[in-house]
Amino acid sequence: MTDSKTATKLTIDNSGVDPQTNFSANPTFAAIIESRMARRRFLKGSVGAAVAAIIGSSIAGCSSDSDPVASPAPVVPPVGAAPLLGFAAIATNRMDTITVPEGYTATTFLPWGTPLNGTYPAYLADGSNSGSDQEQQVGMHHDGMHFFPIDSRTSATNSEEGLLVFNHEYIDNNLIHTNGITTVPRLADEVRKEVAGHGVSVAHIQKQADGSWALVNNSPFNRRITGATPMELAGPVRGSAKTVTKYSPDGSRTRGTLNNCGNGYTPWGTYLTCEENWAGYFMNADADKPREHSRYGVPSGNGRYFWETATPAADVYQRFNASSTGASAADDYRNEPNTFGWIVEIDPFNPDSVPQKRTALGRFGHEGIIFGKLEEGKPLVVYSGDDSRFEYIYKFVSTAPYYKNTAGGHLLNDGILYVARFNDDGSGEWLPLDISNTDFMAKAAAEGVSFSDQADILLNTRLAADVAGATKMNRPEWGAVHPETGEVYFTLTNNTARAEQQTDAANPRANNATGHIIRWHERETQEAMAFDWDIFLLAGDVGTATPDTDLTLSADNHMASPDGLWFDKNGLLWIQTDMSGSQQGEGPYGNNQMLVADPVTRQIKRFLVGPTDCEVTGISATPDMKTLFVNIQHPGDRSNPGDFTSNWPDGGNSRPRSATVIVTKDDGGVIGS
Ligand code: FEO
Ligand code: CA
Ligand code: CA
Ligand code: CA
Repeated sequence: MTDSKTATKLTIDNSGVDPQTNFSANPTFAAIIESRMARRRFLKGSVGAAVAAIIGSSIAGCSSDSDPVASPAPVVPPVGAAPLLGFAAIATNRMDTITVPEGYTATTFLPWGTPLNGTYPAYLADGSNSGSDQEQQVGMHHDGMHFFPIDSRTSATNSEEGLLVFNHEYIDNNLIHTNGITTVPRLADEVRKEVAGHGVSVAHIQKQADGSWALVNNSPFNRRITGATPMELAGPVRGSAKTVTKYSPDGSRTRGTLNNCGNGYTPWGTYLTCEENWAGYFMNADADKPREHSRYGVPSGNGRYFWETATPAADVYQRFNASSTGASAADDYRNEPNTFGWIVEIDPFNPDSVPQKRTALGRFGHEGIIFGKLEEGKPLVVYSGDDSRFEYIYKFVSTAPYYKNTAGGHLLNDGILYVARFNDDGSGEWLPLDISNTDFMAKAAAEGVSFSDQADILLNTRLAADVAGATKMNRPEWGAVHPETGEVYFTLTNNTARAEQQTDAANPRANNATGHIIRWHERETQEAMAFDWDIFLLAGDVGTATPDTDLTLSADNHMASPDGLWFDKNGLLWIQTDMSGSQQGEGPYGNNQMLVADPVTRQIKRFLVGPTDCEVTGISATPDMKTLFVNIQHPGDRSNPGDFTSNWPDGGNSRPRSATVIVTKDDGGVIGS
């Protein structure tokens, strides 16, 4: 930082929390339903009984019951007869290293700055790589991730070679340059480096003879997708008047993907990256901001990193100024923010493929995306949460049925988007956000809201959900679907802004700093309009009990701010935490961590603790469940230029770097056993 104005303005909130933008009048349910003690129907009715039958265990199993027979039958039997959750839980700590249970080893892989091909520029430890270097190197702030076996399009069984595809959520301006940001207006090459630090990496990786993993140098699959890569809009919004820009006068194209947080992957072998806190990258100084900007928090003054000020000026950076500066939309970037807020599909097996923004899935702060169980001849069902305070959980149901042999991205272009209402009695409803639904359109009209077509609804998904009467949730983060039962779990990371009078059964705690995990069953079919839900766990300190269950958190599993969530193929639920810097520094939980739960017994054990000031986020595994990939984001999150709060992973006085961690079991066994 070279001047006080810059230093003041660039006190950037990197916490990933968008400002609250939902001030709609649709009530929280406490206001309209008196009984908060209404009996939950979740596991009492036929659905719960069916699940109990499927998984062969009493749902009311005791949290201290460690009997491995209670788990769903593993797809890959544990090696050496080791039971699932057979490891000893690790304690919390504040060390600047990765800690895993005895019998496991964690190895750093593909940290920020790693050249993606052998001839590419090497990472420079003083932070002096250029913008063009960064375009050929692994990006910053690893997040959602998926391992695609190299034979994904056929048997998908290869556990020794594949494509590791992972997100780069944002950049730390204090760490990406040698001495932080030089000045505002921004130097164009620093902006180029920051834009390239975002996006997605595709890395072709292979297990070596000694059991380690290495990048396949010069593989044609190795690819960087950044905040400037050309992309297409697909689905109902493609060609909308509200996506017309100087770059794309027909409203069909845009450049880049930003703030790629959680992820998903399709049954047809493609990657889905999710645009979360994208609004803050733009600015719009117009006196009257359109609802497509205001409901999402596009600021009036400056973008988060002042990219719009890049000097010398270039169109690719001027687009972050979304003010009406030209004669028409085709002469400026007033609509540029409307081309963000989507789920983006990337085909990692085709390096020349153009990423597709799947607009039918809605526009909001997409955390991640998760598919329901696949059923041949039935519609595809996908879930996605909007991570902001008092925002919503959504479900998309494809119009066309899924058939394994013909499935593809087209299924994500046409369908109905629903938003969730969680009733206090344990029931729930999916509310359609659909131009052809007369009830929805009547509700909108009653609120004085008009939508011209389905594209207009999708561009204003949050507003549509407001008028539909959805339940305002505590920052919905990742979802996970049980591989056998199809039961859906969602993390609700925290919400300290919820007042006592705003609590409801689904968000039962006011001033909630520690979060919880909710789960539901669709009634009868996945595409059903009704579901039954309950709370799987309330996070918090030792002694925190989840009502109506036997679960009380202990030193083995106390946690706060659950975020990443993933079911492995053996039916274990992996939970990753994203506590703030102060919660990690001062709370009883130590550094951010990863735990693993048996969803039936609610036995939960801490499996991994990350280095100082990091977030643990992003998880995938090889098909044999013997190699686990976990991402460590922003170690040293509270660093200043030259003054690092972590030196992970390189040690000494080094600059901290986000990285993937490969976890293996020393006896070659299944992870989690
Ligand atoms: Fe990027 Fe909601 O975490
Ligand atoms: Ca997250
Ligand atoms: Ca988070
Ligand atoms: Ca983070």
